[in-house]
Amino acid sequence: MTALGMTTQYRSCSADETIALGRRLAAQLAPPKLVLLRGELGAGKTTLVKGIAEAFGAAGQEEVTSPTFTLIHEYRGADVTIYHIDLYRIETERELATLGIDDLLRDQRNLVLIEWGEKFARFAEERDLEVSFERIAEDEREITVSQR
Ligand SMILES: Nc1ncnc2c1ncn2[C@@H]1O[C@H](COP(=O)(O)OP(=O)(O)O)[C@@H](O)[C@H]1O
Ligand SMILES: [Mg+2]
Repeated sequence: MTALGMTTQYRSCSADETIALGRRLAAQLAPPKLVLLRGELGAGKTTLVKGIAEAFGAAGQEEVTSPTFTLIHEYRGADVTIYHIDLYRIETERELATLGIDDLLRDQRNLVLIEWGEKFARFAEERDLEVSFERIAEDEREITVSQR
């Protein structure tokens, strides 16, 4: 772990390590928050969400799957509701509007985690936290957390 100002870098050597990092990061994710998860397909974005959802008692690791086709998954914990969103297939503002993400961002109890959210400039501007994933090797990832 290396701290560079508001940026912290981690190295993960397995999916389990990335899940464990998600559990640790949850301490910084008290709602309301908008978090962008950046990285190529298979980088580990959804894997991190497994740890975050577990930490909030919102879902078990097995319940968290990729919202690639459903676009939004909702995981309800006692105090926090997590919305895990995948915008990979969303191309236009019009399609985006049908998802109602603005309503989700207005609720103080919500933690909104978006994969491919950087495709839309306003999410890049409004985000509280960005977690970016770099694939170093088959099981190795560099994970950078940038805070506002
Ligand atoms: N260090 C690691 N961190 C996260 N995932 C890893 C790691 N090493 C291997 N993997 C594998 O890479 C894949 C990551 O998939 P996923 O989390 O769905 O990626 P994304 O959501 O970024 O497309 C999983 O099959 C996971 O088991
Ligand atoms: Mg994913």
